[in-house]
Amino acid sequence: MGVEGSEQEVSCRAVVQLRNVVLPRPHGELRLWMLIGLPWAVKVAGSSFPLPPPIVPASRPCVLFRSPMSRIAYVNGRYLPHKRACVHIEDRGFQFADAVYEVIALRAGRPIDEERHLARLHRSLAALEIAAPMSDAALKTVMREVIRRNGIADGILYLEVSRGSAPRDFAFPKRAKPSLVMTARRQRLAARLVEEGVGVITVPDLRWARRDIKSVSLLPNALAKQQAKAAGAYEAWQVDRDGNVTEGASSNAWIVTPDGEVVTRPADTGILNGVTRQGLIGLLGREGLRLIERPFSVTEAKAAREAFLTSTTNFVLAVVSIDGTPVGNGHPGSLTRRLRQLYDAYVAAQGGVR
Ligand code: PDD
Repeated sequence: MGVEGSEQEVSCRAVVQLRNVVLPRPHGELRLWMLIGLPWAVKVAGSSFPLPPPIVPASRPCVLFRSPMSRIAYVNGRYLPHKRACVHIEDRGFQFADAVYEVIALRAGRPIDEERHLARLHRSLAALEIAAPMSDAALKTVMREVIRRNGIADGILYLEVSRGSAPRDFAFPKRAKPSLVMTARRQRLAARLVEEGVGVITVPDLRWARRDIKSVSLLPNALAKQQAKAAGAYEAWQVDRDGNVTEGASSNAWIVTPDGEVVTRPADTGILNGVTRQGLIGLLGREGLRLIERPFSVTEAKAAREAFLTSTTNFVLAVVSIDGTPVGNGHPGSLTRRLRQLYDAYVAAQGGVR
């Protein structure tokens, strides 16, 4: 049992001593704040926690609340505290970005569009000739265990498979065992972003020619996102040599033309075929809305009636400005709002409670 003593500010009485007691449990740690003193409320890290009238003598410790569960990661067959989870320094994911990944949305603890994510994972693995680390049934079991151990309702699950670790050599090692890593964390998009929409900037697409493979080779995407952040924008739309938008740093790009047609780039090797994109295309068909899969230029996007982006972490999110130029009236468009609602309902129908 680990005990860290700390003095905390108490709102109405004198300073008391709180002890953070960590009890090891089979599935993580139970953290108890133990009180020695007699306050009516305690202030910890800026937040006040009201206390019931004392039910135990002041000299006896009592349980105040349970802190969030510690994070657990899955690494090659083991569930480890997140802080201590690691792969080998010669893992090819680390040295060559020789790895693929998936990010899966979780709602009410359930993976959304799991089959599409697994299908894309297999496609990426096959393209790089990396063996699947385990069967899909086993993968699903590990996914659920990671979600359960982290106590996640709404959030994301990250899954990465690398070719494994081997002495550094560019060519594939003869016998490497793929590494499998999984983490999960709480995450939900701020309602304000959905209501107000976001701005994007455009940047040259610096990536390789197989963007359809969901590889961890994400440096150009990270540079683009950082550029967007520095410019006060939410996302960067990458632009090919012909002046056409490929996709965002971590999302797919869409516009609505003045004629009301929904346009997005075809899912060839030039973009990642987003799982959200695939789901939304299905919904557009169901609703009888016109979709055209073709490239569109930055100029066309700036003159579009509406624009939006899609991804696992954003679902459908309105884009209200491009390089500072307002799209339409500078507010989320009506079709975009409808598509957001349709997609939210699609997620809810998979068992997630919104
Ligand atoms: N990224 N394009 C790129 C380059 C992406 O990285 C992503 C997702 C998408 C959208 O795909 P999906 O709808 O399957 O999330 C498109 C994830 C969220 C990420 O890397 O965090």
